[in-house]
Amino acid sequence: MKIPSSIWTLLIGIVLTLVSVWYGQNHGLFPTAASEEATLVDDLFNAMMIISTAIFLIVEGVLIYCAFRYRRRPGDDTDGPPVEGNVPLEILWTAIPAILVIGISIYSFDVYNEMGGFSPHAVHEAPVAPQAMKIPGAAIAATLSDTATSTEPNLNQEKSDEAMQDPATASVRNADQIPQLRNAPGVGSVAPTIGPTPENEGKPPEFVVNVTALQYAWIFTYPETGVTSGELHVPIGREVQMNMTANDVIHAFWVPEFRLKQDVIPGRQTEIRFTPSKEGDYTLICAELCGPYHGAMRTQVVVQKPQEFEQWMQEQQVASTEVLNQAVAVNPADVSPSEFFAPYTSEMGIHPEMLHQIHK
Ligand code: CUA
Repeated sequence: MKIPSSIWTLLIGIVLTLVSVWYGQNHGLFPTAASEEATLVDDLFNAMMIISTAIFLIVEGVLIYCAFRYRRRPGDDTDGPPVEGNVPLEILWTAIPAILVIGISIYSFDVYNEMGGFSPHAVHEAPVAPQAMKIPGAAIAATLSDTATSTEPNLNQEKSDEAMQDPATASVRNADQIPQLRNAPGVGSVAPTIGPTPENEGKPPEFVVNVTALQYAWIFTYPETGVTSGELHVPIGREVQMNMTANDVIHAFWVPEFRLKQDVIPGRQTEIRFTPSKEGDYTLICAELCGPYHGAMRTQVVVQKPQEFEQWMQEQQVASTEVLNQAVAVNPADVSPSEFFAPYTSEMGIHPEMLHQIHK
C-alpha cells in the first residue's frame, strides 16, 4: 500500500510538534527559578526554544533526507534539473519567519511590561516611606522615597544625587569623592530601571535595599536600619527594590536564579524591583567587565523566611555596634580580601568597618 504524501506530511508534522514542545520545556538549561518574575522569562525562553527546535529539526531533517534520497548513483553523469525560483515558495518562507519574529517581539515586550520595565519612575511618584520593619530599636533612616514628585526631564539625575546623599549610604557611596562623575556624558537621559509590575503600579516597594558597587565588591545598605552588609539578604515573598549606584566604573547586578540583570552606573541611580519566591543561597555575579578582578566580583544572595531575615538583621545591628566600639580588625585568618582591597580602599575613602562586612 502506498501512503499518500499528505498523510506523511501530517504525521511528520505531529511528531515534530510533539518533540519540539517536549524539548522546549525539558531542555534543563536554567538554574532554579527563585523570583516571581523568573517564570515570565522562562516561559518566553521556552516558547523560543520550541520554535527553534522545530526549525532545527525541519531544516536538518530535510537536508539529511535530500542528501540521502537524491545522492548521485553510480554511472549517473547527468546534470540536475534547472530550477529557476518559485515566487509562492519565496513568499511563504519570507512570511513565516517574519510572523515568528514579530510574534516573539510582541511576547517579549509583554514580558518586559509584566516585569515592570515600562513603569520606571512609578515609585517616586508616590512619596510614601516603605513599610517600617518591625525590628526593636531600629533607627529609621531617611529613605529615598521621602522626596517629592518631580517632573523635570532630568529626574533621574536628581534621584541619583539624593541617593548619593542618603545618610544611610552616603558614607559607603563615597558621595563627595566623585562629583565629576555626575557630569558624565549622558546626564539627563534615563538610567535603566525595572519598576513595579502592573499589579504593583503606584505602590511603593515593600522593602528597599541600597546597593553600591565598587571594584570589586558589592555593598548593601538597608536604609530602614542603617545596616551595611557584603551579602544580600532578602525576605521571601516581599517585593524588594534595589537602588543601585557605582563608585567607580560600570558594573552589573546579575542573579541568574532571579533572571534579572541591571547595569550599575557611577553617578546615577538604576533600579530593579522583584519578589524573591524561593528560599536558598544564590550567587550575585557582576556582569559587566569592570577591571582585572571582575571575575571575582561576586557575592552571596540569601533568600530567607521573614523571621530568619529579621534575626539576621538584628545580628547585623549588634555586630555593627561592636565593630564601631572595637579597634577595627579584619578577620586575620582570612587575609586575602583585606590585602586585596588595601590598595583601593584608602584611595576610595572606604571605611575599614565596611571591609569587615565584605570578607565573604
Ligand atoms: Cu564589577 Cu565586573
